[in-house]
Amino acid sequence: MTSVAVVGSQWGDEGKGKVVDLLTEGADLVVRFQGGNNAGHTLVVGSETYALHLVPSGILHPGKKALVGNGVVVDPDVLIEEIDGLTARGVKVAPDNLIVSASAHVIMPYHRALDSARERPSVAAGGEGRVIIGTTGRGIGPCYEDKASRQGLRMGDLLLPERFSARCRAALLEKNALFRSLYGLPETSPEEMEALREKWASRLAPFIGDARGALWEAIKEGRNVLFEGAQGSQLDIDHGTYPYVTSSTTVSGGACGGAGVPPSELKNVLGLVKAYTTRVGEGPFPTETDGPLGERLREAGREYGTTTGRPRRCGYLDAVAVRTAAALSGITSLAVTKLDVLRGLGPLKIAERYRLDGSEVRYMPMDISDLARCEPVYRDYGGFDEDISKAKSLSDLPAGARKYLDGLEELCGVPLGLVSVGPERGETVLLGTFF
Ligand code: GDP
Ligand code: IMO
Ligand code: MG
Repeated sequence: MTSVAVVGSQWGDEGKGKVVDLLTEGADLVVRFQGGNNAGHTLVVGSETYALHLVPSGILHPGKKALVGNGVVVDPDVLIEEIDGLTARGVKVAPDNLIVSASAHVIMPYHRALDSARERPSVAAGGEGRVIIGTTGRGIGPCYEDKASRQGLRMGDLLLPERFSARCRAALLEKNALFRSLYGLPETSPEEMEALREKWASRLAPFIGDARGALWEAIKEGRNVLFEGAQGSQLDIDHGTYPYVTSSTTVSGGACGGAGVPPSELKNVLGLVKAYTTRVGEGPFPTETDGPLGERLREAGREYGTTTGRPRRCGYLDAVAVRTAAALSGITSLAVTKLDVLRGLGPLKIAERYRLDGSEVRYMPMDISDLARCEPVYRDYGGFDEDISKAKSLSDLPAGARKYLDGLEELCGVPLGLVSVGPERGETVLLGTFF
């Protein structure tokens, strides 16, 4: 058995969906372990484009099993919609190829309401001290809060009406008090939640099961497992640019808690690096470029969110961020994506370190006020003008592109594993085998 964990090393949207889809060929099992439908993973297969939020990207390959681990937060309506959407397009989604952990927490409508209410600038709800994160509004944070405070409802609870009712009613006492007195929102009725439970259970019961057990069984049988990370290192709840982060552990270690895999079974960690940097939502972004280059990157790379459609902020490649991600996740090789987007954009730069109050900084500071004072120190690269979308090996790439990749490898101290030169499966330079 071997395993590969695919993790984002920036602020998400590095192209994890494409790479997971590609590597699924050699895997038996594909496992999501954290996040929820805040993720938007886009896959292009021939003339078809799929945008997946919850179901692991490996689902498109017949004969492979997809697991939604206990660390994922599941919006049942979104899951049903995704299953129906895939089925309508001829993709098989059945209980024998999709298992949703009974321990995964359920995103309830009141989580979404709370998420949106907190993002509204309102004096009543915290005044100037309130931080607007620019969340995806999917209820992710409030659902993880309930998990941590032991008020959450889990997918398995959908199958236990009495337990669901009792716990949901208890949770609503607190939520409705907040809605009433702080946010001026209508209260949520328990009866409505009970009706939803019934609807969700009737559709999803066959998929709810022991994802962890299926994973252990696969490991015992020597099968290959692919862990599909969501978001990116800099959005990690502990190690990201707090408070401008998501609410889960996005680094490779998150797979241990979020899927139940022991650390000893995490063999290879592929760190996804977009050839430049993007960020959606608020928060510090040291190499951001607001000028014409940012605009050209956004247009050339179609940098608009898969989940919310928001324009992504764009900037230069930041080796400090990637180096930090490599240290956090034990990245064994890098997958550089969207290199083709840099074609014809003129000279390029990579931030090799930061300067902070006169000192040199090689890793992302953990405090955002420090990060805000960091000035990137750049290395210059010539860029390239050639079409690289047909490249199959590094020698097919122009010298300008190769120097840029060599620079990244050297600055991060991690070897390249693959280079993606277009959105399709085949538009990839593979530098090794993963399974
Ligand atoms: P994820 O969240 O990490 O899975 O990334 P997203 O799917 O949100 O965003 C990546 C976008 O870039 C998607 O639209 C992909 O189809 C596209 N993409 C992935 N790799 C490449 C590549 O090498 N070149 C180009 N031009 N597009 C790519
Ligand atoms: P994928 O898997 C990019 C960002 C949001 C916001 C912050 C918190 O496609 O890479 P949340 O809704 O999670 O509470 O929002 O995190 N964010 C992402 N940014 N890609 C993602 O996922 C993201 N998921 C969350 O924009 O800044
Ligand atoms: Mg995305």
